[in-house]
Amino acid sequence: MEIGVFIPIGNNGWLISKNAPQYMPSFDLNREVVQKAEGYGFDFALSMIKLRGFGGETRFWDYNLESFTLMSALAAVTTRIKLFATTAVLTLPPAIVARMAATIDSIAPGRFGINIVSGWAKGEYDQMGLWPGDAYFGYRYDYSEEYVQVLKDLWQDGKSDFQGKYFQMSDCKLGPQPQGKIEIVGAGQSDRGMDFVANYGDYNFVTCGGINQPRQHAPVVEKLVEASRKSGRDVGAYILCMVIMGETDEEAMAKWEHYKAGADMGALAWMADQGSKDTTSDSNSTARHINLPEGAINFNIGTFIGSHATVARLLDEAASIPGTKGIMLTFDDFLQGLDEFAERVQPLMECRAHIVSENA
Ligand SMILES: Cc1cc2nc3c(=O)[nH]c(=O)nc-3n(C[C@H](O)[C@H](O)[C@H](O)COP(=O)(O)O)c2cc1C
Repeated sequence: MEIGVFIPIGNNGWLISKNAPQYMPSFDLNREVVQKAEGYGFDFALSMIKLRGFGGETRFWDYNLESFTLMSALAAVTTRIKLFATTAVLTLPPAIVARMAATIDSIAPGRFGINIVSGWAKGEYDQMGLWPGDAYFGYRYDYSEEYVQVLKDLWQDGKSDFQGKYFQMSDCKLGPQPQGKIEIVGAGQSDRGMDFVANYGDYNFVTCGGINQPRQHAPVVEKLVEASRKSGRDVGAYILCMVIMGETDEEAMAKWEHYKAGADMGALAWMADQGSKDTTSDSNSTARHINLPEGAINFNIGTFIGSHATVARLLDEAASIPGTKGIMLTFDDFLQGLDEFAERVQPLMECRAHIVSENA
């Protein structure tokens, strides 16, 4: 079972709360996070791209670094961990992203992959004149499929003559080609998002709400397994979850209650407004479920809260869902959380026994 970390490229990570740790994103913070993760045997680290924050009292995500440039620097200061950057497909032409990926692959051969984001928050793109109109909600995965096809042509053949509806290449060249395979991951939760990854990707991140309910991910993973059965490709699920730990279950739960009590209502209102703009969203779409009342302060990321033993048990249970290839973690406090996870939780996890014995 692979373990990864969703690194804090934006201020305050994934808790939209005045009572959660307040911090700015920086290269130093992310270097420390990724180097710790690498030292603790983590398999991968991923950064998102977020181009507009939610405001509110905490200025939530108003401060965000850029994903590719950050991962490029992190590639230079790590040796083993796999790194994923994110492209928001409306903002960067695929031929440029193919070259950026080849550059990072030359820094970290075989250790780099790309998360493809079709986009759910119109405001991020509208502000820079890159929103093609609301009809885009309906064709964003068709657009993403063509985008990935161009990437693959360039990486595999060093050239592309792809003629699609959205992208037209004429003898477009790429050299050097990457030495390793650049894996493609997605993070859509809608049916169409799952089909996209089943046809064009290697992994999909799955997420769903709930506190201490590890089996709640099962139907979402099953949907991906079904989609990949149809496409005939081996596509794995990475479960995204947040971990909040304490010496006891009560202590950890008290932290969570404290975070909830500090919900930043202004920032949450912006997120709800953005999430409501996609009239084509289905019941699983990110735009819909991030706004569910239970736990909107953590984007309704499934959250495991408890003592180290409780968190280890919950992670093992999530990992046992058939089709699950890995888990990506976020923490309320990343630096302390990584130390605690590695020293107190990972040694108790059956699905990580191989790492613990390697480090012994
Ligand atoms: C692990 C993970 C990473 C994500 N990264 C980003 C990101 O970098 N930028 C972004 O706008 N959305 C990001 N998202 C949101 C998804 O890409 C989003 O689900 C998608 O755009 C909406 O698709 P859907 O309607 O198919 O769920 C991420 C979601 C997950 C679970």
